[in-house]
Amino acid sequence: MHKVLAIETSCDETSVSVVSKSSDFYKIHSNIIASQIKDHAKWGGVVPELAARKHLELLPEVLEKALESSRTDFNEFDAIASTVAPGLVGCLRVGSITARSLSLLYSKPFLGIHHLEGHLSSILFLKDYPKPPYLVLLVSGGHTELIKLGDGNSMERLGRSHDDAAGEAFDKVGRLLGLGYPGGPEIEKTARNGDPYKFDLPKCKISDGKGGFLKYDFSFSGLKTAVLRLTQKINENQEILPIEDIAASFERVVAEVLVERSIRCCVDYNLLNIVVVGGVAANNTLRKIMITEAKKKSIKVYLAPLSLCTDNAAMIGAAALSRLSNWNCQSSLKLGVSGRLPINLASSLYRKTPPF
Ligand code: KG4
Ligand code: ZN
Repeated sequence: MHKVLAIETSCDETSVSVVSKSSDFYKIHSNIIASQIKDHAKWGGVVPELAARKHLELLPEVLEKALESSRTDFNEFDAIASTVAPGLVGCLRVGSITARSLSLLYSKPFLGIHHLEGHLSSILFLKDYPKPPYLVLLVSGGHTELIKLGDGNSMERLGRSHDDAAGEAFDKVGRLLGLGYPGGPEIEKTARNGDPYKFDLPKCKISDGKGGFLKYDFSFSGLKTAVLRLTQKINENQEILPIEDIAASFERVVAEVLVERSIRCCVDYNLLNIVVVGGVAANNTLRKIMITEAKKKSIKVYLAPLSLCTDNAAMIGAAALSRLSNWNCQSSLKLGVSGRLPINLASSLYRKTPPF
């Protein structure tokens, strides 16, 4: 059995988790999440400097709670892990310096984890998680990507958003409709009372420059502008804004676009399993449409557990356990942090000479 202490501080969630892996079975012993949502809500989005200071303030208490509720002592850990890329640099630094200091103090290996690999690993807590190859739809506040996970943990990005990420579109449209931050859960709540077919919003595509379209790529900024125009027109006519219907129509279009292009990619690449992870994977409309449409093509769907869709340290711990037990990885204590790093370069975090 392997047991790991994991820290996540890449954005606005301060989280520490204790997780273990015994043969192929992953288990969460504790997963404490201190959300800073309230601190950033009044600004309508995450303020990086404020977030970094909050992580510094919250991390000692969150760490203590995670150790206490899992009843684990530092000596029991096989490694200590933290997210090192991508994310807000000042925020990543807080978690990474804490993890490296602890690993030095207790003579434990350190693993720097790629945040998106963490999201991908959230499904390892499902009892029947799939083995590669499979397609991953990763939908969060910063990323919208279709990734093929192949043998030997190889990752190939087959699709991406060319502008806003799906979560970002939810947040921007939420703000536009006067809903709270983050927009995703607020839009979902508001949409429950609306008609998803009331407004015909565009499913934007990206041109391939040859008269066709990139089949697995996304664009959400045009959709956001269409919602803006719609609200302006309704306001000009001095009509009451049907917020519920707009939220429901927007949510349906985002979910349909994500599902249509993911399934097409699965079929074209002959993949029989699709995994959905990231903050937007918590969206019930997306989850339902994905299950219905995938069934028609005999594709099996694996949805991240609801509690592990948004940022948390348990998923970072799962990625660390997989790296440690399957590939014997560990990072140099000289490894720093980086705001950007494509997921296919995640293995570079375990080189003797770190990439940053
Ligand atoms: O994965 P995550 O916690 O952070 C990033 O790594 O970005 O994702 C946060 C994003 C936010 O944009 C939020 O609005 C969106 O996920 N989100 C949702 C829902 N819950 C969170 N979007 C749609 N429906 C939800 N229920
Ligand atoms: Zn995330």
